[in-house]
Amino acid sequence: MDPLRRILFVDDETKILQGLKRMLWPMRKRWRMYFVNSGKQALEILDQHPVDVVVSDMRMPGMDGAQLLSEVQRRHPQVVRIVLSGHSDQDLTLKAVSPAHQYLSKPCEAKLLVSTIDRACDLNDLLSRDNLKQAISRMDSLPSLPTLYADIMAEVQSPDTSIQQVGKIIARDVGMTAKVLQLVNSSFFGLARHIIDPVHAVNLLGLDTIKALVLTVEVFSKFKSDALPLAFVEGLWHHSLFCGELARRIARQEGIAKPTVDDCYMAGLLHDVGKLVLGTNLPEDYRRVIDLMGQQPLCAIEAEMQIFGTTHAEVGAYLLGLWGLPESIVEAVLYHHFPHHFAANEFVPLSAVVAADTLSNGGNLHPNPDDPASENLLTYFSRIGAADKAASWEQLHDQVKEEVS
Ligand SMILES: [Fe+2]
Ligand SMILES: [Fe+2]
Repeated sequence: MDPLRRILFVDDETKILQGLKRMLWPMRKRWRMYFVNSGKQALEILDQHPVDVVVSDMRMPGMDGAQLLSEVQRRHPQVVRIVLSGHSDQDLTLKAVSPAHQYLSKPCEAKLLVSTIDRACDLNDLLSRDNLKQAISRMDSLPSLPTLYADIMAEVQSPDTSIQQVGKIIARDVGMTAKVLQLVNSSFFGLARHIIDPVHAVNLLGLDTIKALVLTVEVFSKFKSDALPLAFVEGLWHHSLFCGELARRIARQEGIAKPTVDDCYMAGLLHDVGKLVLGTNLPEDYRRVIDLMGQQPLCAIEAEMQIFGTTHAEVGAYLLGLWGLPESIVEAVLYHHFPHHFAANEFVPLSAVVAADTLSNGGNLHPNPDDPASENLLTYFSRIGAADKAASWEQLHDQVKEEVS
């Protein structure tokens, strides 16, 4: 296998390509780079050579960036698709919101470009099965609960749409939240990176952009009623919102800084997003997972391992990483069932998510010598200096439960 990462840059302006070549010259020992100036040439390279990442301009004669990336999505779904375009091309870039994984704006600093590409390539190691990778890379949105989907459509079409209301609806939906965070955390919109509160995100994007995204680009979609049992999907939403809220309270109680408290909420909301990804792409297989859990004393990750050879933790982290969500969220999603594998000694969003998830699944944080999972949990909480927090976090759990019931 080629040890080099293979990156394809597409831009119709020769000067821009030369600038990229010069800027990325130090990367030549790690990356095999192709530079072409049209969508047509890009597709020829993709047909002839394996490529890991495509970085494309938007405004190009003939085939524009959105058309090229849609074609790449169709023909080579496993390739990571990144837009690199100028601010004046915002309307065009909205067209690429579906086929692109990430959006960068010109001029882009070498450090940000290199880290975005490297991070995208690293994700490859998360999933070994190519068919799963392809299915996930092809996804451009996560389905929403039908009731929330109806709410957002009604709100954006209403003659007096309220941006606050739009933000509140989005914040209640796992799929819409993930999509809005993907957009707002990209450098393209010129906003400070790392924005986690969906209501804030909607305010920053502005009503016109949100309306265009919902009505013209159709970035949100509705859960198909035949994909998975509605009770399962609703249960997942309830569990996700509950974990988000509990993770936030735990972080607040620990005196964590406000931005990290927001990360904890978001990581809690998104921690099981992999179930949604698997259930949407491979509904029949995921129904087998649900059946298996009904027939045998297996937890979700054990049943998923049997059916898919991987778990919702890896799958969720893969999608959110591909979409460029902040690293602490991706880590929380990836390690939430095996936190002892995560090598950090301080309280991070993963810590809040693990506690919230365990408690909301009816588990507790006290040692149980008969349960190896409890031992792993304890190892982790001891390492971050939180072994004595069980009672106070359980109290928070009971409070949140009482509030929502
Ligand atoms: Fe989970
Ligand atoms: Fe969970």
